Amino acid sequence: MEATLKEGTATAARPVVKGLPPSPRMPRALQTAIWSRQAQWMLEQSRARFGDMFTLRIAHEDTWVMLSDPELVKQVFTGDPRVFHAGEGNQILRPILGDNSVLVLDEKPHISQRRLLLPPFHGERMQGYGEKMAEIAGREIESWPTGTPYKLRPRMQAITLEIIIETVFGVHDSARMAPLRSALRDFLDLTTNPLLLAPVILMGPERFRDFPLFRRRVDRVDELIHREIAERRLAEDLAERDDVLSLLVAARHEDGSPMSDAEIRDELLTLLVAGHETTATALAWAMERLSRHPDKLERLRAEVEAGGDEPYLTATIQETLRLRPVIVLVLRKLTEPVELGGYELPAGVAVAPSIHLIHRHPEIYPEPERFLPERFLDNPPGTYTWIPFGGGIRRCLGASFAQFEMQVVLRELVKRRRVAPARPASERSFRRAITETPRHDAEVVLS
Ligand code: HEM
Repeated sequence: MEATLKEGTATAARPVVKGLPPSPRMPRALQTAIWSRQAQWMLEQSRARFGDMFTLRIAHEDTWVMLSDPELVKQVFTGDPRVFHAGEGNQILRPILGDNSVLVLDEKPHISQRRLLLPPFHGERMQGYGEKMAEIAGREIESWPTGTPYKLRPRMQAITLEIIIETVFGVHDSARMAPLRSALRDFLDLTTNPLLLAPVILMGPERFRDFPLFRRRVDRVDELIHREIAERRLAEDLAERDDVLSLLVAARHEDGSPMSDAEIRDELLTLLVAGHETTATALAWAMERLSRHPDKLERLRAEVEAGGDEPYLTATIQETLRLRPVIVLVLRKLTEPVELGGYELPAGVAVAPSIHLIHRHPEIYPEPERFLPERFLDNPPGTYTWIPFGGGIRRCLGASFAQFEMQVVLRELVKRRRVAPARPASERSFRRAITETPRHDAEVVLS
């Protein structure tokens, strides 16, 4: 697909300009206000005016240089990780996820944590989780009411949380699961509730650590997780277990040392935060789109019922993540000046491959607004033109896991239920913390 893209305006040969690409002529406060309510509109308007490279200035954030030319995105994703920092932009998560979280680290410490986390998320390992995932999804879907408007997003969250408790934490026993589930839900509120995140911004991450409301929730979850880690270290069947916690307990650093309890705790919570709401939102969007395209839903159902290969299911997931990406951009903060697209960008600004804009580039995706899984049947997604999971050395660790989980849940759903939209109009996007969710939570009527 990349081959179909004409040379982007930003890459055309011209003398290098020292400084930033053009920006909407508005004060930072006004740009921030528009961004917080109408991010996608702002991105589209700015691209129409300035092309594939422009600057936005958002309060509490760095200056962002937005990119929507695949060639520039490639340069960023393959750039030197010492120059393109992703962890620096996630410091707001440090009091919540801890100092060892792969999300908040850069350079060597990042690589060393990522190395330990990769094997549990290897594509083939996912197959082993399939049965458990299908059982959890099937049970939940059976409990949904028929004939009445029903919001799918919260239910998808219930499914993805349950799946993480089973496959990542490896907790199967219901007596242990209940308190863990409730502590994790409270904990997740901290990362998705904008009212709770506001104090982090106001107080700064360090002082926020001692904020009582925050401390109580984190202490509770920590206590339960540390108990799981301690018991897992002693488990006699550790070698046979395939949950992520057990694999991390058995993992070794390059010098042969095991991961510390603090490292394991931080990574478990990172996986929970990074993987729970994102996957649930993508599932909600898939159903929001499919319910409004009955012909495509029927094609999918026929394929699933026939058994065998499921190319349309894969394409449906790829198209959902293209048209309704859960996250609209990724950020890399520059530690030194970088030449990109004809500009010498100063250190300290963040370059931002725009997932939203790349995915709607009319030269890459004809009729970009249409939901058309068929477009991926013969054209597999391109590395720099389909980027719902970011890219390069920071590409989402859970990309295979998420897509596999989506396959399982959608399969179980279309097998069991007929789905129609509860409202006539397509749902618009609504930002919750960092994810773009369907405004009415993918409200449908099941039969
Ligand atoms: C549809 C669901 C998901 C979407 C759309 C998504 C998207 C993303 C994106 C855009 C990034 C940033 C990549 C970059 O900066 O280049 C990311 C990072 C990450 N994701 Fe996901 N994600 C999903 C599911 C998951 C799941 C299920 C897990 C794990 C259970 C997970 C774990 C992570 C981790 C650990 C990182 C940080 C990687 C690093 O910094 O090295 N994600 N994800």
